[in-house]
Amino acid sequence: MSSNRKKPEELRSHRWYGVNDLRAFGHRSRTAQMGYHSSDYMGKPVIAVVNTWSEINSCHTHFKQRVEEVKRGIWQAGGFPVEMPVMTLAEPFQKPTTMLYRNFLAMETEELLKSYPFDGCVLMGGCDKTTPGLLMGAISMDLPAIYLPAGPMLRGNWNGRTLGSGSDTWKYWAELRAGKITEDEWKGIESGIARSPGHCMTMGTASTMTSATESLGLTLPGFSSIPAADSRHAQYASLTGQRIVEMVWTDQKPSDILTAKSFDNAVTTVLAMSGSTNAIVHLVAVARRAGIDLTTARFDELARVTPVLGNIRPAGQYLMEDFYYAGGLRALLVELGDLIDGTQMTVNGSTLGENIAGAEIFNDDVIRKRGNPLVERDGLAVLTGNLAPDGAVIKPAAMESHLLKHRGPAVVFKDYNDMATRIDSEELDVTADSVIVLQHAGPVGAPGMPEWGQLPIPQKLLKQGVRDMLRISDARMSGTSYGACVLHVAPESFVGGPLALVKDGDIIELDVASRRLHLEISDEELAARRKAWKAPRRPFERGFGVMHQLHVTQANKGCDFDFLEEKLTTPAPETHAAHEAHAADSNEPEIH
Ligand code: FES
Repeated sequence: MSSNRKKPEELRSHRWYGVNDLRAFGHRSRTAQMGYHSSDYMGKPVIAVVNTWSEINSCHTHFKQRVEEVKRGIWQAGGFPVEMPVMTLAEPFQKPTTMLYRNFLAMETEELLKSYPFDGCVLMGGCDKTTPGLLMGAISMDLPAIYLPAGPMLRGNWNGRTLGSGSDTWKYWAELRAGKITEDEWKGIESGIARSPGHCMTMGTASTMTSATESLGLTLPGFSSIPAADSRHAQYASLTGQRIVEMVWTDQKPSDILTAKSFDNAVTTVLAMSGSTNAIVHLVAVARRAGIDLTTARFDELARVTPVLGNIRPAGQYLMEDFYYAGGLRALLVELGDLIDGTQMTVNGSTLGENIAGAEIFNDDVIRKRGNPLVERDGLAVLTGNLAPDGAVIKPAAMESHLLKHRGPAVVFKDYNDMATRIDSEELDVTADSVIVLQHAGPVGAPGMPEWGQLPIPQKLLKQGVRDMLRISDARMSGTSYGACVLHVAPESFVGGPLALVKDGDIIELDVASRRLHLEISDEELAARRKAWKAPRRPFERGFGVMHQLHVTQANKGCDFDFLEEKLTTPAPETHAAHEAHAADSNEPEIH
């Protein structure tokens, strides 16, 4: 970060507006066409308000209002706000999965910031993939950037019972399939489980990633915990708008904030909240954009020393609204003490340690003290073995403990449709000790690595009272899900990973304590099966999907596109003279 304040003529936007040439005339006259006088923008930081709002994103319904509050802050601080709509990535609606589009949101964000006259940006996201997508794009561009988290929705409610996003959907769906609740009761749950603006209020991917982003230092302190419907959320939106203007003047960029240690802080936060396994894929991808080689092994190292303190569903009992009232993320970070590096810089110009100083826990059942953790360690575990040479992930805190060490015969489904067709058949040869395996659910094969990893328990076992069993796939799992689900198996089966070679009846061994996932067949047999394996046909012949299947990396590398991983340097502001020379040489039409 430069210690000097920028002068107006040093702003990136000056190249568009401030120079005296034909091209700048066009920019100014067209801004006048939109009703702005030159005094509205001339010599002021131009701020992109990158907004993932749409009428199909139920988690961002309040963004239409919030964007006005952000703009209010930008105007107050002497900036010029420009709202830029981008891909909405509405988790419940977009098929086959928003993960297929995360990298495209990142590309869109980077390209918008690069190609228009922006000096800095506010990133408005929250629903699962929007957070990593926006961050990845903004980090690659490396203009001053601040993240506005959508905030969790209020607790769900039905017949006096508190409902949590996702978690209670799976729970009551299993109850319905087992005949324990009626269709009418199921309809009541449907109308009460999501009853306000905001993202999922369990510790799903959204809450996990917005909390991690605050710990990274990219969000105003305390913001990620505030429920979307709380008026303090609106106040923080305005403060975010104010802050980005100052960040432009002092040239505070993501590269001034993000370090290996700030990523450790983010990972520790995820672990202490028993966050979504999706955070592994996303944080690895975000870090690689920042030029930091965050590995899945680092998650495992930190998991071994990080207690789970956030008592939030699905691993715990409460919801994000309770977490906020109990003190929120700042209080949790204080309690983590020496596990957090407080020297790391944040967007408000203070260190993380300065930002959390004095924060208190108001309910120590919701935010546990280190002496009384929900789980002592291992919020997540990274497994390896001959079934997952490049790793796999499991969430020990959200599974039945008798499965932490397990051996059983595989019941293999070759893809999702195969599973959907046969899983509830009375003829299926399965017991509670079986290991359900789903193939072709990874980044290339599914395609897009959907959240299919919480494989359904066969109906005949549900009726026997089975509520958890060992399940393995190369898919992801919603952070709101739970169970003994081994996820992110890499390399994936579609590209010939060992998961593709598993057959019905093969014995699979899981030992979480030793981080082992093993297929009990000989190396010779495995080699023979590999030789006989034929690569399936890639699913896409047109559109974004073609680019995705050609360039997406495996889960342990973050599923970014291989040509976007490298960190870019910030384009240096051109001088007035250089700009004029460039404009004069350009063949582009300058004015229509
Ligand atoms: Fe948007 Fe869960 S559906 S965060």
